Amino acid sequence: MSTHIEAEKGAIAETVLLPGDPMRAKWIAETFLENPICYNQVRGMYGYTGYYKGKRVSVQGTGMGIPSALIYCHELINDYGAKQLIRVGSAGSYQSDVQIRDIVIAMAASSTSGINNSRFINADYSPTANYDLFKKATEYANTHHIKIKAGNVLSTDEFYEDTFDDYKKWAQFGVLCVEMEAAGLYTIAAKYNVKALVILTISDSLVTGERTSSSERETSFTKMIEIALGTI
Ligand code: ADE
Repeated sequence: MSTHIEAEKGAIAETVLLPGDPMRAKWIAETFLENPICYNQVRGMYGYTGYYKGKRVSVQGTGMGIPSALIYCHELINDYGAKQLIRVGSAGSYQSDVQIRDIVIAMAASSTSGINNSRFINADYSPTANYDLFKKATEYANTHHIKIKAGNVLSTDEFYEDTFDDYKKWAQFGVLCVEMEAAGLYTIAAKYNVKALVILTISDSLVTGERTSSSERETSFTKMIEIALGTI
């Protein structure tokens, strides 16, 4: 077991889907995987391992924000040998042509988080998706006629920012949407030479103020999981 995961060595697959919400991890495992076995309940941060079309895959909740997600990513990579990490989460749109229920694949993740400022002093690091996973995900979506958008996303530390209009600067520079973990995941994956991809569904729009209902979220979530599992 590691500090925050109680699984035995070998109980976690090399490919891990990462929803922020641990109840989503449970739902994904019970809905999409064959023979799912729960390997973690520490802090209620559920983790499951099962099979998808014969391939062994795990699903681990990460909690919200880069600090929480990095704890789980670090332990999955260093204590359990994870090699492919795919975040499946929600995001708020920054663009009028990125609508609620749309699926966005993060090619890169800008951030207001301090993690890379304190690491690369007076320089900018660009956390990016793994090309191999990105290509497979976009090919799967195209083949299955699932519409996606791809581009730069913003990972923030604060869900409730001081000034609502702050988002407009990021929007002006082409950032598609805001979430809270991608920059951390892409950075730690690069550090330990593993593959990572972030797939998001738009749950709310800062442009229009719309929000999806929970049943709408479930439908668009299903398509996103389909892409993630199709990618592996
Ligand atoms: N995740 C979903 N919507 C979000 C938002 N508006 N800000 C940050 N993270 C989000």
